[in-house]
Amino acid sequence: MDRNLALEFIRVTEAAAINSARWMGRGKRDEADQAAVDAMRRALDVLDVSGTVVIGEGERDEAPMLYIGEEFGLREKGSPAVDVALDPLEGTNLVALGHSNAISVIAVGEKGHFLHAPDTYMDKIAVGPESRGLIKWGMTTKEILNTVAKAKGKSLQETTAVILDRDRHKGLIEEVRAMGARIRLIGDGDVSAGISTCNPETGIDVLLGTGGAPEGVITAAALKCLGGDFFGVLKWRSEEERQRAKAMGITNMDKVYTMEELARGEVMFCATGVTDGSWLRGVNFTSFGCTTHSIVMRSKTRTIREIQTRHVFDQKKKAG
Ligand code: FBP
Repeated sequence: MDRNLALEFIRVTEAAAINSARWMGRGKRDEADQAAVDAMRRALDVLDVSGTVVIGEGERDEAPMLYIGEEFGLREKGSPAVDVALDPLEGTNLVALGHSNAISVIAVGEKGHFLHAPDTYMDKIAVGPESRGLIKWGMTTKEILNTVAKAKGKSLQETTAVILDRDRHKGLIEEVRAMGARIRLIGDGDVSAGISTCNPETGIDVLLGTGGAPEGVITAAALKCLGGDFFGVLKWRSEEERQRAKAMGITNMDKVYTMEELARGEVMFCATGVTDGSWLRGVNFTSFGCTTHSIVMRSKTRTIREIQTRHVFDQKKKAG
């Protein structure tokens, strides 16, 4: 894949982040999400690619835009064919409530290289580069935390697990507490939390628990670029979900997916902060327009670029 493509895609997450950030704290999650979707859809269509959404806003019958299978881009002869796994607004509640860590994300891969994950849940473990290759699915919470702590040269009391604050995680939370490790409980946004395991400045060491399956694929793509590690197992909520998954080509319902199986080959990843977060700052509206903070990275080189952008609204309008 052309490395410059990654820089093209950053415009897409920037546009979605700016549009949805206008809804911060207004208590309207659907409007915030729609604003992100609209802006992302427009920005995708001017890219010189033949793109297909493989992880998006939902299946065709439930999402009018950015649905699974939707095609985008200029689609000219010679336009590179890419698949994308995207979430225009990851953390709709976070924006609606003005909370931190909402981001706009897009992962780009070659055709057929992302798992076509159905809209169900996924049990996840995400860790940073120090623990890569040391964690195996099936380890107990105790073994995972001990391994991560040792790999990072920390005591358990200095090790932090990030967990979605959900009733389903009560047992997990008690287990981690009983070991004396620290917990960052989050209301939403486990993509941002997963990515944080790869940035020592965030203080997050491991992501544990169950979240959205599409978010799992996106997190795997990000961690591949960051040199971390990720495991996921799809968690079915109903027989109907299983049937839909079968129709999407999933045969082994209990499979443990490695990072490589979720996001194969070379991938690129872009994210822009919507609200201030542990890594990315949110959109800041200014007298001239706004500023954004993004990361853009590629698995091939593991180069991580942080991009701070000044958007001058009047000038943008003039430029068309
Ligand atoms: P949305 O941005 O789509 O609302 O997802 C937020 C999120 O917290 C994800 O980060 C996470 O994977 C999922 O929802 C968890 O689902 P649930 O809220 O049903 O526990």
